[in-house]
Amino acid sequence: MSEETLTESMRNTLERRRQRSGLRSLTIAGDNSTDFSSNDFLSLRSSSLLRAAYMERLRGDFDLGSGGSRLLDGNSKFAEQLETDITAFHRAPAGLLFNSGFDANSGLYASVPQSGDIVIYDEYIHASVHEGMRLSRAATRVSFSHNSVASLRSTLESMKRGNSSIASGKSNVFVGLESVYSMDGDVAPLVDIVRCVDELLPNKNGYVIVDEAHATGVIGARGAGLVCELGLENRVFARVHTFGKALSCNGAIVLCSEITKQYLINYARPLIYSTFMSYPALAAIRSSYELLWTGLAENRRSRLWKLVQHFDSRLEQLDVLTDVHGAALLQMPPRPGKSSIFSLLTPYPRELARYCQDAGFVVRAIVPPTVPKGAERVRVCLHADNSTSEIDLLVQCIGRWMDDVKAGGKTPAARKQSRL
Ligand SMILES: Cc1ncc(COP(=O)(O)O)c(C=O)c1O
Repeated sequence: MSEETLTESMRNTLERRRQRSGLRSLTIAGDNSTDFSSNDFLSLRSSSLLRAAYMERLRGDFDLGSGGSRLLDGNSKFAEQLETDITAFHRAPAGLLFNSGFDANSGLYASVPQSGDIVIYDEYIHASVHEGMRLSRAATRVSFSHNSVASLRSTLESMKRGNSSIASGKSNVFVGLESVYSMDGDVAPLVDIVRCVDELLPNKNGYVIVDEAHATGVIGARGAGLVCELGLENRVFARVHTFGKALSCNGAIVLCSEITKQYLINYARPLIYSTFMSYPALAAIRSSYELLWTGLAENRRSRLWKLVQHFDSRLEQLDVLTDVHGAALLQMPPRPGKSSIFSLLTPYPRELARYCQDAGFVVRAIVPPTVPKGAERVRVCLHADNSTSEIDLLVQCIGRWMDDVKAGGKTPAARKQSRL
C-alpha cells in the first residue's frame, strides 16, 4: 500500500468514527475552570506540601535517566527501598514496580495464566487487562456481568461443567476485577466474590486479581485500598495499585507472592523490554506515598469523603426532568459502596458536558465505545480541593440545563438533527 493509500484509508476510518460521534481528540481544560474530571482525587497535583517534599528530594546529585530496563542498568537501591516500603504499606508479601498501570495489568495478565487456564473477568474491566488477556496463553476468556456475584457464580459453574480439569483443580481460574470502577464509581462486592471463588473452586485453583487503581490513596485506612480495608490480603492472588490517579505521579506496583514477583521479572514483557522509571519519577512516587503512610494526607481524604456525601445529597434533591419523548434527562445509577466518581446517565451526554464546560466546570461526556450503547453519561469526579459551593454551582448548572432542554423541547443537537 502506498503512503497515499494508507493516509486515505486512515482518513476514511477517522471520518467513519466522527460520523458515529466517537472521534477522540486531545483537549486542554481552561485555566479558570473547576476540575470535576481528573483522577487527581486528593488534589495532590497542586499540593504545596507534596511539591516541597518532592523538590527537597531533587536537591543534590542524582542521575537524570534510569539508564535502561530494570533488568539491565535501570535498577537502584532507591527503587528497591521504595518497592519494599510500598509493599509493606499495603501489607503484601512482595511487590514489583511497573512504569504504568497499563504495563502492570498487561504484563500480569499476559504472562501468569498458563496454557489451558481460564480468565473470568468483570465485563467493565479496564482496557489494559484486555490487552494482557489478548496476549495470554489462557484457553478461555469470559466475562461476567458487572459486579454480579450471581453471574460470576453461574459462569464458574458452567465452566466447571464444561471442563473437567477446572473441577479437578488441574487448570487455574483467574478472576479479574477492579475495586472501584472508573466509569460507574461503584465498588466491587469483594468479600462475596472471594467467598464464591473459594466455595466453587475448593481445590484452591481460583485466583482473584484486584485492580485498585481508583481505590489507591482513597479507600481503606490511610488509602491502602479495598483489599486492606476488608482484610483480604491473604485471599487475593495479586493486586495492582497505580500511582497516576490519587497519588498524582506515574507508575504502578503489582502486589503478589515472592514467586509470582520472580516470575514477572522473567516473563512480564512490559517490564523486561522498557526503560525503567528515572529517579525523578521514583522520587515523586516516594514523596506522594509518604503523605499516605505518615497520615499527612488524612485531612485531604476526610475532606473528599465529606464532599462525596454533599454531592450525593444535592443530587438526591435535584428535580429530574424529561425530554419531549418522556425520557429522563438524568439518571443516577445505584452506587454500591462509596467513591469519588459519579456517573450521570443521560441520553445527551455531549450536550450536558458542553453546557457545564461553558459554565466553567470540567466534566467529560463518556460515550461508546468507552461505555456500552445506552450507558452514555457525564462523569463527575470529586477532589479534596473542590468546595461545597463549587458542587452547589455544578448541581445548579445541571438543573438549569434540564430546564433549558425542557423549555426548548429538545437539546440543541437534537434540534439540529431534526432540521437535517
Ligand atoms: C482501572 C484502571 N486500571 C489501570 C489503569 C492504567 O493505569 P495507568 O494510567 O497507570 O497506565 C487505569 C487508568 O486509566 C485504570 O483506570
